[in-house]
Amino acid sequence: MAGRIPPEFIDNLLARTDIVELIGSRLALRKAGQNYQALCPFHDEKTASFSVNADKQFYYCFGCSATGSAIGFLMQYNHLSFREAVEELAARLGVDVPVEGSASTPAPDYTPLFHLLEQATALYCHQLRQHPDAPAAVTYLKQRGVSGAIAARYQLGFAPLRGNPILTQLGEDALRRERLLTVGLVSEKEGQHYDRFRHRIIFPIRDRRGRVLGFGGRVLDDTKPKYLNSPETPLFHKGRELYGLWEAQQATRQLTSLVVVEGYLDVIALAQFGITNAVATLGTATTVEQLQLLLRTVSDVTFCFDGDRAGRAAAWKALDTALPLLTGQHTLRFLVLPESDDPDSLIRREGADGFSARLTQAPVLSDFLFAHLAAQVGELRSTESRARFANVADRLLQKIPAGVYRDLLQQRRVELTGALPPAPRPVVKAAAKKGSWGDFQRPSRIAQLVALLFDHPELAATANTIDPAWRRLTEPGVAVLKQMLDVLATHPEMTKAMLLERWREHPHFAYLQQLSVAPFVQNLADGDVAAEFHDALNRMSAEVKKAEHVQEMNPR
Ligand code: UTP
Ligand code: MN
Repeated sequence: MAGRIPPEFIDNLLARTDIVELIGSRLALRKAGQNYQALCPFHDEKTASFSVNADKQFYYCFGCSATGSAIGFLMQYNHLSFREAVEELAARLGVDVPVEGSASTPAPDYTPLFHLLEQATALYCHQLRQHPDAPAAVTYLKQRGVSGAIAARYQLGFAPLRGNPILTQLGEDALRRERLLTVGLVSEKEGQHYDRFRHRIIFPIRDRRGRVLGFGGRVLDDTKPKYLNSPETPLFHKGRELYGLWEAQQATRQLTSLVVVEGYLDVIALAQFGITNAVATLGTATTVEQLQLLLRTVSDVTFCFDGDRAGRAAAWKALDTALPLLTGQHTLRFLVLPESDDPDSLIRREGADGFSARLTQAPVLSDFLFAHLAAQVGELRSTESRARFANVADRLLQKIPAGVYRDLLQQRRVELTGALPPAPRPVVKAAAKKGSWGDFQRPSRIAQLVALLFDHPELAATANTIDPAWRRLTEPGVAVLKQMLDVLATHPEMTKAMLLERWREHPHFAYLQQLSVAPFVQNLADGDVAAEFHDALNRMSAEVKKAEHVQEMNPR
């Protein structure tokens, strides 16, 4: 696993990146006073409320509260993970991302494995065109309606029944044979090595960056298993990948929607008919990782599983897995196909227009969920069925994160059953009281100081003139405030953006991010800010000393 990226490296990246330039290369920025403005890319609007501040290296939308550093922007706008965003910025500057502690435990270098997989892909492709036994495979693909152009786009290949071309052509020495074993292209039986895939059409599986991680292979006849996939390897974890995602991204500049299907050939058939945004789960139930990847990449996802029992079960399972990830920012749809159809058979029968029509008419998650439950309890006529409906629905809706979206669904479930919603769970309330620093409407005094410091890092320079007794306070947030001052003491030049990134992994990061753009500090005049900050710390120190004094006078 990749190690932690040193925080100084992140500071440095942010210091060398100009957020105005970065965002300006993606949005039409206009200078407005001290800041730059644009139409917010994160919500629909007609007048610009998205602003970028060059001093603080920060963006903030007054409309939807989207906010963050250059890293945060890439994560939000380009749907990257933190590490990917850091790598993107590093690549722009032409530097490598160092890994903390890499001296003691070097991160394994997978370059030779990726290279080998790429060579194997080329060999399989070559065999589909040149191997003496390939005509049977070509005939099979033709008979299934796959054109040469689509086969080329997805780099389909062929593995012959006889011989071990992978082993013989790519495994000339012991080291290479070992690597072939590692990536699952070759298997070993009683000391002998063999090609894993034989007599199969080969589907290369790429990650989001286009690197081949593994393969799927379909037999040309009725032999079992029908499909064979690469085993789990250091590079390939089938629950994390989506077949066809890279190809979909290649086909469309800015993907906004994806269709999730079950099979390799469903992806291929849809692409053949011009629907180039289909991806397939790899023969498993849709996993949380796959859902996160989908939701990070696009705003609209349509699940389109086979019209058999297994397909319907898979759709319901995907819904259940998706619930904890739903914040109302995405539209998920569920297209149930006619019994015994799969996307491949359906699009061949109904064409692209028929299939697209079904996609757009597919029910959204909420409609699908309530309809499914209603069907399960046998409509909502009797009190008993409404009670059962309410119970099952509540159990499902509880999985959705608290927020407007869940509220709306709960409201709908109340309308459908006439029964009151469940009482809010007391656990949640208690946790909020204990863990947070006061809610955002009424921030605690520590939260207010943290917010001040985000906006005015220069305050830290004079903080050492203040009696440090306040540091012995134990209320929530004091640790963060102390750390912030300590970091600023050694790095006084840090911007708000750098400061915030230091807490990226902190459990309260989301709250800190909110504080970093808190409206309550923006109302203070500059001179007042320093006074406010010093007074607050002094008051806290006095309070601590008084409490300690009282204790000394009254020892137990
Ligand atoms: P299907 O049997 O629905 O595949 O399995 P399909 O794509 O419609 O196959 P065709 O049309 O008969 O060629 C769906 C997916 O499940 C995985 C594969 O990823 C397949 O695409 N699978 C299926 C396996 O991994 N192994 C199997 O033996 C069968
Ligand atoms: Mn099929």
